[in-house]
Amino acid sequence: MGKALETAKTLAIANRKGGCGKTMTAVSLATGLVRQGKRVLAIDADSQGSMSVSFGISEPDKLTVMLATAMTHIVNEADFDPLAGVIYNPEGVDVMPANSNLAALEIFLAGIIGRETVLRQYIERVSINSN
Ligand SMILES: Nc1ncnc2c1ncn2[C@@H]1O[C@H](COP(=O)(O)OP(=O)(O)OP(=O)(O)O)[C@@H](O)[C@H]1O
Ligand SMILES: [Mg+2]
Repeated sequence: MGKALETAKTLAIANRKGGCGKTMTAVSLATGLVRQGKRVLAIDADSQGSMSVSFGISEPDKLTVMLATAMTHIVNEADFDPLAGVIYNPEGVDVMPANSNLAALEIFLAGIIGRETVLRQYIERVSINSN
C-alpha cells in the first residue's frame, strides 16, 4: 500500500496557448503509460472536457459528479469520497472527467484564499485512496 503511494507521480500537461496539443499529449501519454503496465488516472482539468470525450465519455455535461464536484468539496472542507466520479477502465486509463461546471468553479475560486492548492489537495486525496 505504502509503496504504491511512494511511486505515484503527478504529471501536468499545461500551456496557456490554445490548440497546441495539450489534450492530445495527455491522452497519448496516459495511454502509453497504461501500455507499459502503469496505473493511470487522467484528471481532466479543462472545462471543455475534451480529454473526457477522447476517453469515450461522449457527453461530459450530462455527468452529475466530476472534477468540479470533488474540488468544491475540498474548498468546503467537506467529507467526500475522492473516488466518486472516477470512471474506471480496467484495461485502460481511469478518468476523472471535467465539464462546464469547472468554468463556474474557476470564477468562484478566484476569490478564495488558497485556490492554487485545491487541485493539489484533490490529487493527494485521490492518490492515497487509490492504493
Ligand atoms: N502531434 C500532433 N500532430 C498532428 N496534429 C496534432 C498533434 N497534436 C495535436 N494535434 C491536433 O491539433 C489540434 C489541437 O490539439 P489539442 O486539442 O490536443 O490541443 P489543446 O492544446 O488541448 O487545445 P485547447 O487549448 O483547445 O484545449 C487537434 O485537432 C489535434 O488533433
Ligand atoms: Mg485541450
